[in-house]
Amino acid sequence: MLDAGQTPETVLEVNNVEVIYNHVILVLKGVSLKVPKGGITALLGGNGAGKTTTLKAVSNLLHSERGEVTKGSILYRGNRIQDLDPAALVKSGVIQVMEGRHCFEHLTVEENLLTGYYTRTEGKGQQQADLEKVYQYFPRLKERRKSQAGYTSGGEQQMIAIGRALMAQPETILLDEPSMGLAPQLVEQIFGIVKDLNEKEGYTFLLAEQNTNVALRYAHYGYILESGRVVMDGPAAELRENPDVKEFYLGMSEEGRKSFRDVRSYRRRKRWLS
Ligand SMILES: Nc1ncnc2c1ncn2[C@@H]1O[C@H](COP(=O)(O)OP(=O)(O)OP(=O)(O)O)[C@@H](O)[C@H]1O
Ligand SMILES: [Mg+2]
Repeated sequence: MLDAGQTPETVLEVNNVEVIYNHVILVLKGVSLKVPKGGITALLGGNGAGKTTTLKAVSNLLHSERGEVTKGSILYRGNRIQDLDPAALVKSGVIQVMEGRHCFEHLTVEENLLTGYYTRTEGKGQQQADLEKVYQYFPRLKERRKSQAGYTSGGEQQMIAIGRALMAQPETILLDEPSMGLAPQLVEQIFGIVKDLNEKEGYTFLLAEQNTNVALRYAHYGYILESGRVVMDGPAAELRENPDVKEFYLGMSEEGRKSFRDVRSYRRRKRWLS
């Protein structure tokens, strides 16, 4: 949990990062952000803003997409991490939960969770204790532990994906679009668990979300990305009250509620990018 009044230690630092896909498509145009230890930091923005690309740059997953960090640096606890493979990255404390959840469909829920333990060396006793801890936060997964993951619901699969990440005992979890495709009540449930994990277990989160409304209610700090650039950042409480954020991302304006589409079409680019 982030203590009020104290300047927290920065664990992850993205400095002026540029990403190019297929050697020509410039997608991130100098993104910088800081993730404080024990905080929930949100990376916000619409479709194609560059949220997933930013997370993948951090976890070194761009190569399989023909993407490359061409400028800038990414530091975890002061060390460059952009050349680490996923196992080494997990050992240094960072794990990513990918967009779309990605369970092993033919394995049971419990087997899926256990795959998260592969970088650990502490043995079976610890594994069992950690599994119980995951079940404590996700009782639904305990009920369904013998079910084949491919037959579980979208919400349960999101829980599996987060639970599997927890089994690696990371310090920082990168969470890509946890709300995607889930009913509002489930979204609240998932975010509530993220908040509990943050407050009670001290996990640090960097989460990418299109759902600005939910993300800003649970996060401590937010960065808003547009077309590969950070256009605004600040404490979540301030962003929630910011008139531009209200209008563009929360669908509200002084004249009343508006759809994001309406707003986007007329003033968005003009105000922020001029
Ligand atoms: N493998 C790729 N090759 C070329 N362009 C890509 C690739 N992956 C993403 N892009 C482009 O990069 C831009 C940023 O995409 P990214 O997936 O990072 O956005 P996002 O903010 O996560 O969007 P969403 O909210 O829809 O998930 C988009 O214009 C997208 O078309
Ligand atoms: Mg994305």
